[in-house]
Amino acid sequence: MLVTKNITKKFPGVIALENVNLKIDAGKVTAIIGENGAGKSTLMKILSGVYPDYEGEIIFKDQPVNFAGTADAQKAGIAIIHQELNLIPYLTITENIFLGRELGNAFGILDKKAMHAKAKTLLDTLHVDVNPDTLVADLKVGQQQMVEIAKALLLDADLIIMDEPTSAITEAEVETLFKVIEKLRSENKAIVYISHKLNELFKIADNYVVLRDGKTIETGLMQSMTHDELIKKMVGRAIVPMQKELADANAKELLRIENICLKQKNKASKLHNISFNVNGGEIVGVFGLMGAGRTELLETIFGVHPAASSGSVTVNNKNITIKKPADAIRAGIVLLPEDRKKDGLVLGMEVKKNISLPCLHEVEKMGLLNDKKESTLAKKHIQQLGIKTPSENQVTKNLSGGNQQKIVLAKWLERNPKVLLLDEPTRGIDVNAKNEMYKLMQELAGKGMAIVMVSSELTEILTVSNRIIVMAEGKITAIIPAGEATEDNVLKAAISIN
Ligand SMILES: Nc1ncnc2c1ncn2[C@@H]1O[C@H](COP(=O)(O)OP(=O)(O)OP(=O)(O)O)[C@@H](O)[C@H]1O
Ligand SMILES: [Mg+2]
Repeated sequence: MLVTKNITKKFPGVIALENVNLKIDAGKVTAIIGENGAGKSTLMKILSGVYPDYEGEIIFKDQPVNFAGTADAQKAGIAIIHQELNLIPYLTITENIFLGRELGNAFGILDKKAMHAKAKTLLDTLHVDVNPDTLVADLKVGQQQMVEIAKALLLDADLIIMDEPTSAITEAEVETLFKVIEKLRSENKAIVYISHKLNELFKIADNYVVLRDGKTIETGLMQSMTHDELIKKMVGRAIVPMQKELADANAKELLRIENICLKQKNKASKLHNISFNVNGGEIVGVFGLMGAGRTELLETIFGVHPAASSGSVTVNNKNITIKKPADAIRAGIVLLPEDRKKDGLVLGMEVKKNISLPCLHEVEKMGLLNDKKESTLAKKHIQQLGIKTPSENQVTKNLSGGNQQKIVLAKWLERNPKVLLLDEPTRGIDVNAKNEMYKLMQELAGKGMAIVMVSSELTEILTVSNRIIVMAEGKITAIIPAGEATEDNVLKAAISIN
């Protein structure tokens, strides 16, 4: 269906792709695999016309092509579901799906009825049970992702590219998506699938292409590949998994949470009397299914919902009043938010500016920000955390997911926090960077920090936690020491509520 010959793409200071050669077959799912920053999204943006400027050649359905833009690629039969959601929040689902390809009648008037009906059919195929007239702003992230998928299906393209389509959806939604993919495959379409969840790749992909540092490393059949071999190909060496250290039995309590409640307007309470404690040096994992209230718990501790919440927070035996995040930060509590792009970073600002934001007093000189001090501070963290960026002056949105996450961490570490609240710290992050993040957490705990980590990945919870708190419907249903935790008992506690 598609062949690329020696594709090279350069950005200032970065060679994102170098002589990439690949073949994508009709009737097959091809997985593009690689670490954060390997060049996967850049390659897909070239194939779908987002970047018309590159070196090399693309042959699509036996014709050399050079798309001037996405509309051009769509017309030829290539659709892409981007890693970043691209919907317009204040338009309805139908309007988003048909944006730029609205249906009209013979008089050039919008045929709203037809568009509504078609949107409904698409949503039905994807088992999304919402009215197509709903504003996208009112949808959950997972549902928005499904609308993106619907939008791509409408094109009836021959090549459908999915760049991390499952990073924000539930297991049930993944199942539906996989059924859709299987149907597309049986219609002889070509599907390109990108994901850091290796288990998914083994389930759905026929072929694989490994990219490393912008180069094609290997291609082959998925079924002839093992999990460990795949990681080795991606990273260039075997990775040493983190060894969990036992929590220090003599450690002192650092954080105590008592009776945290959170009310919601006109709805059932989101959190009910949550109490737990965390020792210095301890990593506590918080597990729960979607909607269990995990994110709300961290946010409430951090002072994001002062008006609707109650309860007490004690740090180092000192009761603290938290009316806003600044109060929490002053008390030594920091939060890595679930959505780092929206809540954790100013994407349009340079790396150094993001790092210095919570500690501007350190980089001023007579009341003015000092560029040199800012650079020095940023360089220290870039080196310590191994952040991959051409320089501290790079705009943050140009970095890969894993490196962006490290910047959020760097900005907080400069404040020497006592308590780290981490909400899905490894979402969208590759296996190697994940492992690095685990080791970093352990190192920080080793220095005496108390760490609370929310994650929807059960393996991750079991790998890093010294103790596991399980939540369901806004309540704690179990607190399990690491030695006794199994997939079974954690999942059971997450599902049962009685
Ligand atoms: N617009 C841009 N300007 C400058 N550099 C960029 C830009 N887009 C990407 N890069 C750089 O190009 C390289 C490849 O990035 P790309 O987004 O393709 O990686 P990826 O494999 O999709 O990573 P991830 O798994 O994190 O999504 C990275 O080093 C990235 O920082
Ligand atoms: Mg990407």
